[in-house]
Amino acid sequence: MQRVLVADDDGSIRGVLRDLLEDEGFEITEAANGAEVLTALAAANGTRPDLVIMDVRMPDKSGIDVLREAGAKPGREPGSHLPIIIMTAYGTSNVAIEAIQLGAYDYITKPFDLDHVLVTIQRYFERQALDDQVQELATRLDRDPNEVIIGNSTAMQEVYKTIGRVARSDATVLISGETGTGKELVATILHNSSSYSRGPLIKVNCAALPETLLESELFGHEKGAFTGAVNQRKGRFEMANKGTIFLDEVGEMSLATQKKLLRVLQEREFERVGGSVLVKVDTRVISATNKILPQEVADGRFREDLFYRLNVIALYLPPLRDRRDDIPLLVEYFLQKHRYTAGSSPSRISQDAMTAMIGFDWPGNVRQLENMIERATVLSQGGVITEEHLDFTGADNRRFVDIGQRVRQGTSLTDLLADVEGQALNQALSQTDGDRQAAASLLGITTKQFQDRYAKVS
Ligand SMILES: Nc1ncnc2c1ncn2[C@@H]1O[C@H](COP(=O)(O)OP(=O)(O)OP(=O)(O)O)[C@@H](O)[C@H]1O
Ligand SMILES: [Mg+2]
Repeated sequence: MQRVLVADDDGSIRGVLRDLLEDEGFEITEAANGAEVLTALAAANGTRPDLVIMDVRMPDKSGIDVLREAGAKPGREPGSHLPIIIMTAYGTSNVAIEAIQLGAYDYITKPFDLDHVLVTIQRYFERQALDDQVQELATRLDRDPNEVIIGNSTAMQEVYKTIGRVARSDATVLISGETGTGKELVATILHNSSSYSRGPLIKVNCAALPETLLESELFGHEKGAFTGAVNQRKGRFEMANKGTIFLDEVGEMSLATQKKLLRVLQEREFERVGGSVLVKVDTRVISATNKILPQEVADGRFREDLFYRLNVIALYLPPLRDRRDDIPLLVEYFLQKHRYTAGSSPSRISQDAMTAMIGFDWPGNVRQLENMIERATVLSQGGVITEEHLDFTGADNRRFVDIGQRVRQGTSLTDLLADVEGQALNQALSQTDGDRQAAASLLGITTKQFQDRYAKVS
């Protein structure tokens, strides 16, 4: 049972709060002045209150004095909050601000609405529970920074089950899901838990390379196979021998390359480009796509036989908007991960900001959420993140220039670079709140160069 200490010099207020909170299953103790609060906070674990609701105005020590003294205790992490919610008179927002700066968790204004009091308290305990989970995750994070997947939603539970089932098998897995849902993260975890983890994890982004290069990238080439092939070169498949090859954005592969890949998967052998020597490999294959591959098959852009070869085990990562329950936990996790400075305690987040994030659709999924938190931490200088620190309209929300696709569409290099440049300029502008001088210096160019380039691309 959670222990709440109600501190007010007015006995009738203590009585009202006691009735309200006891009905909700809290264990209540009372304090009539500041000295009693300090004594209670200094008590041993087990008898100490989990939360204090305290009036600012009390006869001996004010709530502000109590916060100051409780906050000055040695060994407290600087910037961390106290388990104290303060009650202030309506219209004294400066007192509330001071209380928060001194480490109060939240404040309630008097006269109060009982529902509001209850919600604030429940929110406190929910936040604490999340914090505990994140602490536990952070311990895991220290051990293995690349292998932490956050999320408790039913949808993610399904994902964990599948990961668990295929972890130790060396089955071929196709991971699908929108951009930023964690496909690469899952691929890394699958590799690390398989018997192929003794070998390397070799990643190939199939969208990043034009067709001819992709082939030699995958299979290697012999000396003189094409102009520029001055030496024999091993491909990714050979490098991944005894390990895992991760074929990212496999849906972007041309039909010709798909045919060659199919053969490798069937025979486990291939020839380098321009060669006739058969190379044998023992490699586990994990692939990923943000396309709906069965649709690509139906439309004739992806070979059906290859699809079945890759899709032995299907792992679908749901978009964040379909598992909003996970958002608070992810937010707390990224707050822990991206501190304002290395030594500072995590930023905190206002309820409004959290509500806005839970309501947002996240086209860039977890990656976008992480970027937004990282940026908000900087903007709020490690303090409390409010809605004004969140940018739901920034460049993150627009589709990034998909270079692989554009090359395949035959976009000229000039046009492609102009798009990339436009995106960089806009991104810099949005990161500096429209300040062109700051945006220019962020990009390492003069303000004049920035203006000229901006005029050209926009
Ligand atoms: N469930 C999660 N918990 C913690 N971090 C996550 C989670 N999902 C994604 N991330 C993080 O979000 C970022 C994007 O994830 P990842 O690169 O795996 O996405 P992706 O699905 O491969 O995206 P894309 O299709 O754009 O390549 C990474 O930094 C990753 O660590
Ligand atoms: Mg990826």
